Amino acid sequence: MTQTVFVRKILKPVVFLLCLLPISLLAYDFFTDNLSANPLDDITDTTGTWTLRFIVITLCVTPVRRLTKWAPAGKFRRLLGLYAFFYGSLHFMTYLYFDKFFEWEEILPDIPKRPFITVGFASLVLMIPLALTSTDRITKWMGGKKWNALHRLIYVTAIGGVIHYLWLVKADTSRPLTYGAIVAVLLGYRLWVYLAPKIASLRMKQKSVSPQTERGQLAP
Ligand code: HEM
Repeated sequence: MTQTVFVRKILKPVVFLLCLLPISLLAYDFFTDNLSANPLDDITDTTGTWTLRFIVITLCVTPVRRLTKWAPAGKFRRLLGLYAFFYGSLHFMTYLYFDKFFEWEEILPDIPKRPFITVGFASLVLMIPLALTSTDRITKWMGGKKWNALHRLIYVTAIGGVIHYLWLVKADTSRPLTYGAIVAVLLGYRLWVYLAPKIASLRMKQKSVSPQTERGQLAP
């Protein structure tokens, strides 16, 4: 069995099923009455936490692929990103249905009123174009450059998700700050990959230009 077949036929289905584990465990606890005295909190927290985790895991794919030089890692990016959107949608549905009972007169003013909801909502909305453009056909139609530029929105979503978490916690900020630090490292890595060759070529240019400049300055 070739590596490509192994990834497509075995590894991907395994990862797909593993990603369903958080929602399966939550559903199991829900139907067996194993949630806490406040099931709404449990469902909101679990779906919210897994949305942020899947965003972070998706952001890990490119660094892992580059650092390990294992190209098939890239094949998991779309799957993981779509799971982030799936858990984000469940999280939002929990808010709409269990928290607000689809009372739009309450929901619509709440989104701009509470800053953590505003940021969470904006982050989820930014994920919609990413999910909609995730098919092979649309990727091809858009072309790699445009597609990559659009999918950089995930960086904004990740930062928004961290701010949303930071703003909603009342006392202990250690968890949102930990996610913030991980997101900062993952985005910092991308910035470094982008800037490093530019800085290197600038240095090379300076090195090759400076002796001439010096000679030029000394010349009458
Ligand atoms: C990318 C989008 C989002 C991410 C990453 C996210 C993430 C999170 C996280 C990590 C938590 C806290 C979980 C915990 O306490 O352990 C949370 C809670 C919450 N989120 Fe989101 N969220 C997002 C979008 C939204 C949206 C769109 C809404 C509603 C409009 C929303 C409403 C809430 C509410 C009401 C809570 C519970 C607040 C509380 O415990 O007082 N979130 N979210």
